[in-house]
Amino acid sequence: MAEQVAVLVTEATESDVCFVHVIDDARRCLVLMGATPPFTSLSGTVELALGQGVAGWVALHAKPAVVPDKWKDERYFYIPELRGEEYESLVSVPLLGRGQHVVGVINVHSRKPRRYGNHDVALLSHVGSLLAHTIENARLYEQLALREQMLEQFAARTVEAQEIERRHLAGEIHDGISQPLISLWYHLQAAEAFAQDPAVVAHELGKAKDLTGAALDEARRAIAGLRPSTLDDLGLGPSLESLAHTVAGPEVEVDIGAARLPAHAEVALYRIAQEALQNVMKHAGASRVSLRLSTDHGSVRLVVEDDGRGFQPAEAGRNRNGDPAYGLVGMRERAELVGARLQITSTPGSGTKVLVEMPAALA
Ligand SMILES: Nc1ncnc2c1ncn2[C@@H]1O[C@H](COP(=O)(O)OP(=O)(O)OP(=O)(O)O)[C@@H](O)[C@H]1O
Ligand SMILES: [Mg+2]
Repeated sequence: MAEQVAVLVTEATESDVCFVHVIDDARRCLVLMGATPPFTSLSGTVELALGQGVAGWVALHAKPAVVPDKWKDERYFYIPELRGEEYESLVSVPLLGRGQHVVGVINVHSRKPRRYGNHDVALLSHVGSLLAHTIENARLYEQLALREQMLEQFAARTVEAQEIERRHLAGEIHDGISQPLISLWYHLQAAEAFAQDPAVVAHELGKAKDLTGAALDEARRAIAGLRPSTLDDLGLGPSLESLAHTVAGPEVEVDIGAARLPAHAEVALYRIAQEALQNVMKHAGASRVSLRLSTDHGSVRLVVEDDGRGFQPAEAGRNRNGDPAYGLVGMRERAELVGARLQITSTPGSGTKVLVEMPAALA
């Protein structure tokens, strides 16, 4: 579509060539997404930093730029593939989407020197805003489709995890609670059978009391493992701090700012931090790890960063036993489900950074 718009706009403004650059928000740069011939095949291959070149300036300032002689304009930046030497003048207009948010930039160039007028700027702004809305809708659709897919995977994984959890719980109840209860029953029975001998009764009751205490401890342990109850009592920040205390091995740096989120989002961030810290302990061989929670313009960021051995995130699909590893996948799913973005940056030899960012609207 960007390409078709480029062709139409070139004709309508009697220009020679048109480029549509779209902002890649994650990488903070402009990417060429549509052009008129002979540049159509360059789509996706040419990038400009925000602020770089006339298009970069327009993206940064959200204002049009009319450039009658680009060689005299210090904003101009020469990109060999786009053959700037063949064109003299240009006009560049931001693609403004919802809330006047800059989605990209549209440029038309002319071989002959000319000064583009208000009429051209108005036309480009109008077409640009239609294009911006289409791009935004396409992105929303893509995000929705991805979330839907995540949701399906999450549902499947939840059922699987539930089964594993049930088996685990059955084991805990069997070993930690049923076993002591059985012994308890024997001791009480013995006390009953020797009711006439106070020394035996006292001895058996003492044993029974110890066993009751042990069973109670086990029950508490099982319950604590099921739900991070500190979240309900203290909130996310203090819960993360107490999580940091459980880290064994590397030195832990904690920097937790105040942040309160909806309950389901707090659980997601807590579990992600928990898995990230567990990974640091299991795999990183790090000497330091830092756990940070901060708020920036209303959006919430959680960072777990270690100085350990690092890894290739793209290749980390299996754990040491060759079984599918669920830690990283689970972290991503949890983040996506609450509308947050998870980014794992790691290179072998230079540590790992796990970043979760929760947009202000959801935080
Ligand atoms: N902080 C880290 N430092 C170094 N390697 C890491 C780190 N985090 C993850 N990895 C690597 O990525 C792999 C995948 O991690 P993931 O959490 O998905 O699985 P796992 O920890 O091996 O198993 P699971 O989490 O399912 O018990 C790990 O096996 C490890 O090789
Ligand atoms: Mg793991």
